[in-house]
Amino acid sequence: MRLVTSLAEMRAVARDLRRYGGPAGLVPTMGALHAGHLSLMQRARDEGHKLVVSIFVNPTQFGPSEDFNRYPRDLEGDLVRLDAVQPDIAFAPSAEEMYAPGFSTYVDPGLLAKQWEGASRPGHFRGVCTVVLKLFNIIEPEVAYFGQKDFQQVVITRRMVADLSSAVSVAVCPTVREADGLAISSRNAYLDTQDRQAAPVLHRSLCRAQQMFEDGETRTTELLAAIRHVIAGEARVSLDYAAVTDSVSLQPVQQVAPGNVALLAARIGAVRLIDNLIFGPEGAAATDLIELAMPRSSCR
Ligand code: PAJ
Repeated sequence: MRLVTSLAEMRAVARDLRRYGGPAGLVPTMGALHAGHLSLMQRARDEGHKLVVSIFVNPTQFGPSEDFNRYPRDLEGDLVRLDAVQPDIAFAPSAEEMYAPGFSTYVDPGLLAKQWEGASRPGHFRGVCTVVLKLFNIIEPEVAYFGQKDFQQVVITRRMVADLSSAVSVAVCPTVREADGLAISSRNAYLDTQDRQAAPVLHRSLCRAQQMFEDGETRTTELLAAIRHVIAGEARVSLDYAAVTDSVSLQPVQQVAPGNVALLAARIGAVRLIDNLIFGPEGAAATDLIELAMPRSSCR
């Protein structure tokens, strides 16, 4: 594995990789790598790609009162964790390298970024789109791998790729969970013991909705009522939003159909966590549900 920190070197190495190595798969991350990140990398490997992993805590996607300064950073530990998947390149630029003095051009993701996560994190997706497009331009991967865990991020990234005619194909990988159902996240490290015990209620509430859907319930009002009811059972958890939406427009639906998605965000103490679930037939594999909600061949 080669560690690259400069943009010029990354461009040169990526060019050589494409020319002599084969198509590159990119896994963009902010580091503090965990099993969720590694699953994306493994998928890229399984699909036969040369693997580029970026590690960059992107300042433009954090609001002024958010956790940019205390976001976990551990490049040395990350490089050790990368041993498990042996990427060809780890790209870990500095903020100065990515945002040179005078930087002023951003990608505006429009209305999709105004709701749900965007409503409580104004500017977040503008920062995400900007850095992701920069990474696409620097590395020019064939495929970039993202996690279903950040559902709105994936929807917006797919929209950006289609709207701005990027040649990069966006692959979406299932959410990796702890044994008790909690979606793995770098921010789980902020949870104290009691909050950690309460946190799986997010996933439990979504599973309850999926169970009702399998039993024939398609009214969003009923499914959301059940989600709220399960979450209300944990006093430490306060729901920020829960919605059932179309998987492309992220607009709420009234009747739920396979491929629609339940999105939620909740606060546990000072920590904000998100989770989601794609509704589908009983027993459907996670990858099939993803394909149902956002077919890899189309960005629509
Ligand atoms: P980060 O939170 O580090 O996540 C990097 C990628 O890992 C994202 O695509 C995210 O959805 C995926 N991921 C995180 N937890 C996961 C889990 N439990 N299971 C499966 N995939 C998971 O998302 C970002 O960084 C940034 O916004 C980024 C895209 C890198 C732009 O800065």
